[in-house]
Amino acid sequence: MTKKQKGQFIVFEGIDGSGKSTQSRLLYERLTGEGYSCLITEEPGGTSLGRMIKKILLDPEIQFCPKSELFLFLADRAEHTDKIIKPALREGKIVISSRYFFSTIVYQGIARKLSDIDFITKMNMFAVDNLLPDIVLYIDINPERALKNIKERNKVTSFDRIETEGLNFQKKVRNGYLDLMRYYPEIFVKIDGEREIQSVAEEVYSITKRRLLNARN
Ligand code: TYD
Repeated sequence: MTKKQKGQFIVFEGIDGSGKSTQSRLLYERLTGEGYSCLITEEPGGTSLGRMIKKILLDPEIQFCPKSELFLFLADRAEHTDKIIKPALREGKIVISSRYFFSTIVYQGIARKLSDIDFITKMNMFAVDNLLPDIVLYIDINPERALKNIKERNKVTSFDRIETEGLNFQKKVRNGYLDLMRYYPEIFVKIDGEREIQSVAEEVYSITKRRLLNARN
């Protein structure tokens, strides 16, 4: 039976290859198994328009000017928030998203130095109608290790357009997350991602239960 609950919004963040998708799936399966009504989703590509945008965004053949890249991520996010996240929260679901606007602040704002954090944050707030998550699980991992994970995951050594930016870019992204955390002390939780998948999953689960579900249901 589905448990009665308030909508909760959980976001996973981290550099490419940090294990966000795996961890969000494991959390989704565990909470669903306990009877919670959950929705698992991701950015970019959480809607049908978003999947089209994602295909363009990650195409290694296309060269973007950085502003176009930013606006495509924002379009994906506006659609995702409006069509998927907000309706699910209204229905009382636990929404688990791999990535949200923190990715844009870090990748486009900090790593690409496109604009200052305040301006990028304002644009994102406009795109999502000020919707903040209840908790952000930031999986922290060394970029060298993450790159190895991506190679193993892809089996062949093919990378998407952003992954091909290489180690230095991922280092900037990681530092960006570590900086950004300080702006959101109430919702950001840093999780050591350099452990066995199951032990990361255990911590993710217990933090989620303790900090979120127990406190609010
Ligand atoms: P994806 O294949 O979904 O990667 P991952 O599994 O690591 O999430 O590709 C998303 C890529 O887009 C990833 O390199 C991060 C990047 N990205 C941004 O640069 N800005 C954003 O706002 C978002 C959501 C993703």
